[in-house]
Amino acid sequence: MTVRRAVPMSASPMKIYPILTIPDAVLRKEAASVERVDDDLRRLMDDMLGTMYDAPGVGLAAPQIGILRRVIVMDAARDDDPPDPVVMANPEILALSDEMRTHEEGCLSIPDHTAEVERPAKVRVAFLGHDGKPQETELEGILATIVQHEIDHLNGVLFIDYLSRLKRDMIVKKFTKAKRVDAM
Ligand code: NI
Repeated sequence: MTVRRAVPMSASPMKIYPILTIPDAVLRKEAASVERVDDDLRRLMDDMLGTMYDAPGVGLAAPQIGILRRVIVMDAARDDDPPDPVVMANPEILALSDEMRTHEEGCLSIPDHTAEVERPAKVRVAFLGHDGKPQETELEGILATIVQHEIDHLNGVLFIDYLSRLKRDMIVKKFTKAKRVDAM
């Protein structure tokens, strides 16, 4: 009996990237714009989605895997719903609502820590999609929170930056200490 492969032999397997954690300096850098969406970039988008699902997480920005380019991926589908991946290159916020929403945020680069963050409840975003075409979309609810969190990553901003300095320093210190112990 032959086993039918779901993926053509020529397609190389998806790459799961290691995710950087604080206080890695790359997470504080500004990412560069993408010139165009070609096959290599589509490959990166797909690998980022795979890495995000593997983690698991609801959003991932390229700097979190050490790639300083303006690419983000998201999926806010519930566990019992089919996947609903969203990928964006060069996402740009066009408008934010006055109305705010608060969400208990976490981040794959700051494992095991969450905190309530208040952000605009609706956001209008321009971006290049998987096919490279310019698009615009208006997001609300959890996706509005996620897209703002991920775009922040492209500018070296983390959700802990919205907390009090005391709380932020406590979290950063914890990770700095843990890394020092790991290195021993
Ligand atoms: Ni994050």
